[in-house]
Amino acid sequence: MAMSLAQATIFSRTSLFLSRNALRSFTFCVPSSSSSSDNLRRKKWSQPVASVLELGGVKIAREDVVRDDPTNNVPDIIFSRLGMQLHRRDQHPLGILKNAIHEYFDTSYSNKFDKFDDLCPIVSVKQNFDDVLVPADHVSRSYNDTYYVDSQTVLRCHTSAHQAELLRNGHTHFLVTGDVYRRDSIDSTHYPVFHQMEGVRVFSPDDWEASGIDSTSYAAEDLKKCLEGLARHLFGAVEMRWIDTYFPFTNPSFELEIYFQEKWLEVLGCGVMEQEILKRSGKVNNVAWAFGLGLERLAMVLFDIPDIRLFWSTDERFTSQFSKGQLGVKFKSFSKFPPCYKDISFWISESFTENNLCEIVRGIAGDLAEEVQLIDNFTNKKGMTSHCYRIAYRSMERSLTDEEINDLQWNVREQVQSRLNVVLR
Ligand code: DAH
Repeated sequence: MAMSLAQATIFSRTSLFLSRNALRSFTFCVPSSSSSSDNLRRKKWSQPVASVLELGGVKIAREDVVRDDPTNNVPDIIFSRLGMQLHRRDQHPLGILKNAIHEYFDTSYSNKFDKFDDLCPIVSVKQNFDDVLVPADHVSRSYNDTYYVDSQTVLRCHTSAHQAELLRNGHTHFLVTGDVYRRDSIDSTHYPVFHQMEGVRVFSPDDWEASGIDSTSYAAEDLKKCLEGLARHLFGAVEMRWIDTYFPFTNPSFELEIYFQEKWLEVLGCGVMEQEILKRSGKVNNVAWAFGLGLERLAMVLFDIPDIRLFWSTDERFTSQFSKGQLGVKFKSFSKFPPCYKDISFWISESFTENNLCEIVRGIAGDLAEEVQLIDNFTNKKGMTSHCYRIAYRSMERSLTDEEINDLQWNVREQVQSRLNVVLR
């Protein structure tokens, strides 16, 4: 299992992101005039989508989120995930994990932490990035990496988007759990919607003054003690190590790793909150710590779930294996159906990005798309670059027919050609 790559935090993967996506601008071509065959095709391949949902008390219509407008890059398949709130289901691995973390905080801090798990995932660019000091040129702000509803509104790409607002509202101890959205590649540990939990604790001078150490060291020490306790609560008596890292919103910043199933596994990112964030929230005499963790990454190892798509499965053979309060029951694969591989090669253009390709594949094949992998890449004497991608199609619930896969692949080829500004080979 490639757990070291599992989805958890963006900012700790900055260098990876930079090498993969930097300098590429987003030019995802929305077909300008949708021909009738285009409409037909879309109808056939798009999933049925409820047209109005309620999110954190706010009513949201499809037209509010999915629009044929160059500042919008939210596809129907993403709209169909809004409001599913897997983390609020007590019988679901993500809900079971969330509850286990809540239980740790409730017992260790006598219910002092306020808990939020129903905040609307549609947030402003300011909340998602500016309020947590993400630099103006950070790659995570690009249309290639983030879902934009319009130029000032996004689907949150991390639960840190709620830090500043909750601080301003006077909360000093809180946990925020929610679905987060990122444009990304396709493999067993990446899915464009996943779940995170954010934790924040604010201290006042009384807390650290008696200790005789400076406020930052005091917060860092408390943070490490708290999170080591959490890791033991979830994983038992494991070996742990702290790695220094960088996040825009904390200084110093750390990652916690545990030695589990013979591998070092990154569990979370954390640090002492940047003073500027506290100051802007009206807290000038305080210090705080914060952490963020990816629920899928932890649930995959705790429950032995081999593919991130399974979290979305409604197949009873999956759902019936988990019950409320049962953390770490090992998932038993009900069957393994063979994957089917199809290759697609094309000459890319300047604006080509792998995330745009993956969006098309996901839009057509949905959760049948298991992996999209670049298997060949060369530039000819004329300077034209060719990419060959291998797409793995596999259902976790049934065998796919040749006809069905050929149909999917045919549609992928058509849309890649018409929407990505590339030339098929
Ligand atoms: N928001 C970060 C991410 O998604 C995770 C994170 C790291 C949250 C450190 C924090 C923190 O609050 O202190 O990559």
